[in-house]
Amino acid sequence: MPDMLVRLYALPEGRASRLGTDVTIRRALAAERRTVVAWIEERFGSLWAGEAEAALSSTPTRIHIALCKGELSGFACHDVTALGFFGPTGVDEARRGRGIGEALLFESLSAMRAAGYAYAIIGGVGPADFYARAVGAVEIPDSTPGIYADMLSPDETGT
Ligand SMILES: CC(C)(COP(=O)(O)OP(=O)(O)OC[C@H]1O[C@@H](n2cnc3c(N)ncnc32)[C@H](O)[C@@H]1OP(=O)(O)O)[C@@H](O)C(=O)NCCC(=O)NCCS
Repeated sequence: MPDMLVRLYALPEGRASRLGTDVTIRRALAAERRTVVAWIEERFGSLWAGEAEAALSSTPTRIHIALCKGELSGFACHDVTALGFFGPTGVDEARRGRGIGEALLFESLSAMRAAGYAYAIIGGVGPADFYARAVGAVEIPDSTPGIYADMLSPDETGT
């Protein structure tokens, strides 16, 4: 799973969002930490839940969430694995394919651009086509396993 590079200064502008009016994207609040982390752990496992906890440990938080009719439906973290990194991100399986993942990606990358970054790195990419098409991300050579080398897995620690 390679990392990918995104040029934040060249993010597509003025994109028409496919999101319905019933979907809201915003930063999660510290007070929502336990709710959000439990939701992520249930759907995406303990590694991503741990990263979300880290993202919820700063002010402002470094995690955006998507709400559909007020229900938590997706999340995206940034500046967690390393400074300048986007991810992890995930959308509830039942709500995929409606533009939520892309909207979360844009909100996070816009926040990173506003914080002063010129580039973002998508860490340990799964769906490379999704990132290439949405924001022109390109694969970084020799970036597997990158920063994730030698990482403990939950199985090895019994957590
Ligand atoms: C990847 C993920 C966040 C995308 O969320 P989503 O809400 O379904 O994505 P969107 O609806 O915004 O899709 C935007 C576009 O990307 C495409 N796309 C979505 N998932 C894709 C994938 N896995 N591979 C390639 N293209 C994908 C969509 O078809 C859509 O294309 P279109 O504009 O031509 O219709 C979601 O599939 C997910 O949670 N996957 C499991 C967790 C994961 O892999 N996270 C990424 C780790 S790096």
